[in-house]
Amino acid sequence: MAIGFMAKEKKQATWGGRFKKGPAELMLRFSESISFDWRLAPYDVQVSKAHAAMLAHIGLISAKDRDAIRAGLDAVLADIRAGKLVPDIACEDVHMNIEQALTKKTPAGARLHAARSRNDQVATDMRLFFKDACGQVAGRLRALLAVIVDLAEKYQDIVVPGYTHLQRAQPVSLAHHLLAWEQMFGRDLERFEEVARRANVCPLGSGAIAGSTLPIDRAFVAKELGFVDKKGKPQFTANSMDAVADRDLFIEFASAGALCGVHLSRVSEDGILWNSAEFGYVRFSDAFTTGSSLMPQKKNPDALELLRGKSARLQGNLQTLLTLAKGLPLTYNRDLQEDKPPVFDTFDTLMISLDVLAGTLAGMTVRADKCAAAVADPLLLATDLADYLVARGVPFRDAHHAIGALVGMAEEKAVPLNELPFAAVKKVNAAFAEDWTEVFDLKRALKLRERPGMPGPKQTAQQIRKLKKLYQG
Ligand code: ARG
Repeated sequence: MAIGFMAKEKKQATWGGRFKKGPAELMLRFSESISFDWRLAPYDVQVSKAHAAMLAHIGLISAKDRDAIRAGLDAVLADIRAGKLVPDIACEDVHMNIEQALTKKTPAGARLHAARSRNDQVATDMRLFFKDACGQVAGRLRALLAVIVDLAEKYQDIVVPGYTHLQRAQPVSLAHHLLAWEQMFGRDLERFEEVARRANVCPLGSGAIAGSTLPIDRAFVAKELGFVDKKGKPQFTANSMDAVADRDLFIEFASAGALCGVHLSRVSEDGILWNSAEFGYVRFSDAFTTGSSLMPQKKNPDALELLRGKSARLQGNLQTLLTLAKGLPLTYNRDLQEDKPPVFDTFDTLMISLDVLAGTLAGMTVRADKCAAAVADPLLLATDLADYLVARGVPFRDAHHAIGALVGMAEEKAVPLNELPFAAVKKVNAAFAEDWTEVFDLKRALKLRERPGMPGPKQTAQQIRKLKKLYQG
């Protein structure tokens, strides 16, 4: 982004009245935020237009000045969008750059900053940003969730080993595993919706710290900016000091982002493992994999590895914000200017990451033969075999012990668990009957798991139907 440096031509900051000299060039470069808050321009203009409307509403400026200010702000935003307005670091931040540009267009601009401070202004801009950002992230999450549900539907009949400790544990449908991902991102969606709900409170009118002596109408401006509840009732902050000091939302947004990052990285890791030759359960499309500059045979799951890596930034941004806010005295301190880069980075990182995961998963194909071979391991049904004994009246602890002994015996004899001779099995526990090998039927194993939350085929199909309606309308 191009930034001007016109400090030398005696451009004075809006606060310059009590100063004899302007700030050092080094200080300007150090203290500017325009290099990262310029993207708030649309929100800042929106806030200023609402503020001007409120000032006219209470009779502090004329309708003519209000209209000149509002038209001027629209023109400034148009200039910004056209790249015609180059911000100047002598004006520090987005707020002062816009105000100066406006005042150049209309003298009425000089009336705009009555009864407000950059402290409540930036808090308001950021709340509008959060509402918008949460909506956009939620949209991306919904798109990803739709891809996941589609995959689950497509591969409903595939059974794979489920893992604990990264060791084969029990058989599950692949759909059940995919729908576990759906749960993770579904909770993220709820969290972002909640952050948006909490952002929906207007701090404007808090001034620098103690409001204003001017007869402002906080409800009017809150309504004008869309800070209203479901019934259209304006919502504004209850304490001017808290309103300018509070950075909870920044932390909550980054926290939702960090947790979503944890999910992105865990899902990516599942994909990376499944894609390895050792597992071989899935393949990814050429579009989201890359080759090696040296090894001609390689096709690496770089998209997923990068997602795992990018999640580190999301964790870091949360940590930065927590550390930034910790121990700060009330109310606004300039430290807080550092609150925006981590938030914007979380937003940008999330938006592209969610798209990339959706794209990668949309191109994922499942190798039924590899899954079938892995899930044929009879040890996956050792727990079901214990249940078989329990159903025949054996206490679970005894059943667990008996199956453990059979597993040991199979290992010793180097035969699959289900191929042990019946006589030997019966010797371990008299409750075994000839039908004991029926337990090793995978279809039976899944059919017995038809209670809520379990991987039974009917349960899964029902979940998929419900979720398809939710995400695909
Ligand atoms: N650029 C500043 C920030 O983001 C705006 C608020 C400045 N307030 C002040 N009192 N200097 O924090």
